[in-house]
Amino acid sequence: MSNSKLLDGKIALVSGCNRGIGRAILHTFLENGAIVYAIARTHGSLNDFESCPNCKPTYMDVTDSSAVKSIFMRIKKEQGRLDVLVNNAGMMKDALIGMISKEQIEQTYSVNVFAVIEMIQYASKFFKRQQSGVIINLASIMGVNGNPGQLLYSSTKGAIVTLTKSAAKELAPYKIRVNAIAPGAIDTDMLRSIGEDNVSKLLKNIYSGKLGVAEDVAKTALFLASDLSEYVTGQIIGVDGGMIV
Ligand SMILES: NC(=O)c1ccc[n+]([C@@H]2O[C@H](COP(=O)([O-])OP(=O)(O)OC[C@H]3O[C@@H](n4cnc5c(N)ncnc54)[C@H](OP(=O)(O)O)[C@@H]3O)[C@@H](O)[C@H]2O)c1
Repeated sequence: MSNSKLLDGKIALVSGCNRGIGRAILHTFLENGAIVYAIARTHGSLNDFESCPNCKPTYMDVTDSSAVKSIFMRIKKEQGRLDVLVNNAGMMKDALIGMISKEQIEQTYSVNVFAVIEMIQYASKFFKRQQSGVIINLASIMGVNGNPGQLLYSSTKGAIVTLTKSAAKELAPYKIRVNAIAPGAIDTDMLRSIGEDNVSKLLKNIYSGKLGVAEDVAKTALFLASDLSEYVTGQIIGVDGGMIV
């Protein structure tokens, strides 16, 4: 039996790696043989990966255009190629219609949408030259179905759904695959920020009767990053345990 791993030798760039879903994706990709440029905002938040030579911590804000350009230049210099981009970093601030500030709109769109488009543009330059590459975006079940109180967040994730489909169509001729994961309720800081009462209400709408864990999403990201999904593109894959919204 072969000892090869699903991502052996692949170079990946993953955002939001210090906690939650991003951290689980980082662990899973490293375990499966990838070299991961791991983006985190807070300096030192990836110190526990210091002894892992395949983890390359990169401290930056994804809304900082010059930092985004620099990380792609660094990967080009150090590796000469990139195989997988995971746009995981995201934020959620809920407010009812009429209470959403301009500042919240700008901040949420900057992180959840504008930064993603910028990352895709840089990555696709690598990928077109190589005639290969994988992009995985984090959407949300709320971006597919909408939800009261989540106009802002759900609209940013709706943008992720459609930009994923457009990018998949435009980039398929270059052998570049683009897919999104649409998680339901995954037990991370983001989910817990809605309060225990709201988490309990959400649970009642999940047929499997439990919250997801970050590793559930990471396993789907592994499938999408690997050659197991080589004929899968333009898809929005729900990871929601049978959630109704
Ligand atoms: N958890 C869920 O139930 C759920 C459901 C659907 C979709 N999602 C999506 O899945 C992704 C990960 O969610 P999560 O639950 O793991 O969220 P989380 O626990 O809140 O973690 C968010 C991550 O994004 C990073 N981040 C936010 N803004 C950033 C910025 N400007 N620059 C760099 N990094 C930034 C955070 O870094 P800091 O630590 O520095 O803040 C953190 O690492 C998000 O896109 C989210 O919308 C989650």
